[in-house]
Amino acid sequence: MYNSNMNELIQKAKLKHNLTKNEIIGLLSNKDIDIELFSAADEVRKKYVGDEVHLRALIEFSNYCRCSCLYCGIRCDNRLVERYRLSKDQILSLSKIAVDFGYKTIVLQSGEDIYYSADYLSQIIKKIKENDVAVTLSIGERPAEEYKILKEAGADRFLLRIETTDIELYKKMHPKASIENRKRCLYDLKNLGYETGSGCLVGLPNQSIESLADDILFFKELDADMIGIGPLIPHENTPLKNVNSGDFNLALKVMALTRLLLPDINIPATTAMETLNPNGRLIALQSGANVVMPNVTFDEYKSKYEIYPDKAKVDYNELLTVLNKIGRFVSNEKGFRNKLI
Ligand code: 5AD
Repeated sequence: MYNSNMNELIQKAKLKHNLTKNEIIGLLSNKDIDIELFSAADEVRKKYVGDEVHLRALIEFSNYCRCSCLYCGIRCDNRLVERYRLSKDQILSLSKIAVDFGYKTIVLQSGEDIYYSADYLSQIIKKIKENDVAVTLSIGERPAEEYKILKEAGADRFLLRIETTDIELYKKMHPKASIENRKRCLYDLKNLGYETGSGCLVGLPNQSIESLADDILFFKELDADMIGIGPLIPHENTPLKNVNSGDFNLALKVMALTRLLLPDINIPATTAMETLNPNGRLIALQSGANVVMPNVTFDEYKSKYEIYPDKAKVDYNELLTVLNKIGRFVSNEKGFRNKLI
C-alpha cells in the first residue's frame, strides 16, 4: 500500500479506534510510517489518559514455577535457578516500604507457585488493602474459584499475558499449558470484575506479523484494561538461548497500535523495552505508554527472579527528571482505567 493510504489508516485509527486485521498487518509491515504511528499513539495517549504516569510497585515474591515456557528463565526445568519464596511478613514489609514511599499500587508477581494458596494470598491482600492502595496480582493460571476468593479479599487487578494468540506457536512455547485455559482465565478475571491486563511477547521464533495483528485484535475483543508488550530477550539457560532478541521497533509498533485501538487503557513502558534499548522507557512513554513498574523487591531476590538477563532498573530520581523533561508527571492516584469508549 502507498504511504498516503497508510497515513489515512493512522488517521482512521486515531479517530475511530478500529482497524481490520489487514490494515493492522499493513501498518506493522510498513517501514516508512513509524514516526507518524508513534506520534498518533502519543496524541491519543494524551487525549485519553493525560500526561500523568502511574507507578506500580512490583514485588517478585516467589520464583518457583510449575510452567516450562521455552523463553522464560525461571521455567521449572531450569535447574540452575536458586529458588526462593517470600513469607507473608516479608511481602508485607516490602509493601509497607512501597506504600510509605508513595506508591498507590502494589503488584504481587510470582512464578506459578501453588504453595501460595488462595487463602494465604488473601491474608496478604487484606493486610495490604488496609492502606489506601490498589493491589494487582500476577500469579498465573488458577481456577475461577480461587480468582473469586482473591477478588473478595480485595485484589483489584490481575495481569496475565496471552503471550501469543497463534495456537501452534502457543503450544510449542508452553509445553505444560493450553491456550484454552489461558483464555478461560482471562475471561473469568474479566467476569469477576478484575481490571484485567494481558499482552504479548514480540519476537518468538516463527511468530508472524499476522499473528501479532491477531494479538492486538484479541486485546480489543477481551476489552483488556491494561496491555504490556515486550520484546523477547533470550535467556541462556532456556531452549531459546540461541534465538535473536525481539525487534524493539516492532514491539513499539504493536504497543502504539494497541494504544490507538484501546485509547483509554493503561499501557506500561515495559522493562524488556528498556533492557533492549537504553532509551526504551522514554521512547515507549512517548509512543503510547503511561505506566512504569519499578521493582521494589529486596536486592538479594531481584537477581534470582531472572526471567531474562540484565533486566533494566528504575532509578526513581532519574525517572522524575526524564518525565519532567517530556512534560509528564507522576500521578497521585491509583490509576484505574477510566473507560471512555
Ligand atoms: N524475554 C522477554 N520477556 C519475557 N517474559 C518471560 N520470559 C521472557 C523473555 N525471555 C515475559 C512474559 C511474561 C512476563 C512476566 O515476562 O511475557 O508474561
